[in-house]
Parts: sequence; C-alpha cells; structure tokens
Amino acid sequence: MSDVPTGLDVRLRAMTLEDVPRVHEIDVLSFSLPWPERSYRFEVSQNPNASCWVAEAPAPAGVVGMIVNWIILDEIHIATIAVHPAYRRLGIARRLLAHGLLAGYERGGRLAYLEVRVSNTAAQAMYARFGFTVDGLRPRYYQDNFEDALLMTLNPIDPARLRELQPG
Ligand SMILES: CC(C)(COP(=O)(O)OP(=O)(O)OC[C@H]1O[C@@H](n2cnc3c(N)ncnc32)[C@H](O)[C@@H]1OP(=O)(O)O)[C@@H](O)C(=O)NCCC(=O)NCCS
Repeated sequence: MSDVPTGLDVRLRAMTLEDVPRVHEIDVLSFSLPWPERSYRFEVSQNPNASCWVAEAPAPAGVVGMIVNWIILDEIHIATIAVHPAYRRLGIARRLLAHGLLAGYERGGRLAYLEVRVSNTAAQAMYARFGFTVDGLRPRYYQDNFEDALLMTLNPIDPARLRELQPG
C-alpha cells in the first residue's frame, strides 16, 4: 500500500477474472472503441504474453484503473491503460505505467512502445514525462473516426527512472 497525494490509498495488484466487469466499465467510460469484456478475460486467463494490473482504492471505490501490456521478447507493447474519470490527475496512471514497465523489464522487456490518438494530449504528456518519444505516425489507425495514431517509444527502459516515477 502507498499513498497518493489526496490521501487515497491505492494499491497495485495483478488483474483477476473477478476484476473484468469493473475494468470493462472503466474501459467504456474511457475509450470510444472499448474492448469487449471477453478480450480482458482472454488477456487475464489465456495470453501468456500479457501482463495485466489494476489500481485498487479502498471500498466503495474498488478498482479505479488498469493497464494491459504485452511482452514479446525484449519489447513491451502498452496495449491499454485507463483510469476511471472520477480518479484522474491523482497520479494513478503514472504509478500503473511505472509498475507495468518495471514488471515487463523483469520479464526481459528493454524497450516499450504504444499507439496514441493525435488528439489525446493528456496521455501524450504522461508518456513524454516517462521519456517516450514520437517515433512515427500510423495514418487513419482508429476505426471510429479514422484518426491518426502517434507511435511513441521508450528505448531503452531505465528501471532506476521508473522507480523514481513509481511512488504515490
Ligand atoms: C491518460 C490517463 C490514463 C491519465 O490518467 P491519470 O491517472 O489521470 O494520470 P496521472 O494523474 O497519473 O498523470 C500523469 C501525468 O500525465 C499527464 N496528464 C494526465 N492527465 C493530463 C491532462 N488532462 N492534461 C495534461 N496532462 C495530463 C501529466 O503529465 C501528469 O503528470 P502531473 O499530474 O504530475 O502533471 C487518463 O486521462 C485516462 O484514462 N484517459 C482515457 C484513456 C486513455 O486515453 N488512455 C491512454 C490511451 S493511449
């Protein structure tokens, strides 16, 4: 357990199948193209390359954020990360990202990458804070509005820097 500045006690732990309905709720509140619930069930229970974490606050809040990473050889692909709208700007995504990247590093990940909407300046600011840089553009990547995706990469991963970003 560690504190975030508001005094809200948030702990990070591995996602379980029981978390999936709540995680899906947060996904729907956060993305215009949410994953179906079955995708989360697959990641948690069947994908050996997945690394899935949640941020949990004391009841009644419960799970307030999640991250799913795919670790393939030395690459960590950040597949999704979101925080419930009522719990944003409290440092929860920063902690999830630092934790997820460190967990991936322990499994051999040495670089990380992700796609982010060009309009999603909040997420881009967070990734920039971690040292991610824009590496390319995937034109018309998103199927709802054909928005472009920026490809952002962190290479190499510096575990000491991630540990600095981890505390609440
Ligand atoms: C992006 C998201 C995950 C950030 O979650 P969060 O818990 O609010 O983020 P944090 O409080 O940990 O903020 C970490 C850093 O991100 C940046 N950031 C986060 N929200 C921001 C905003 N609205 N505007 C500008 N910068 C922002 C800041 O650099 C912030 O550090 P600071 O608070 O010390 O300035 C959250 O806004 C979200 O769930 N959005 C919808 C889903 C999404 O876009 N996911 C990313 C897909 S690529």
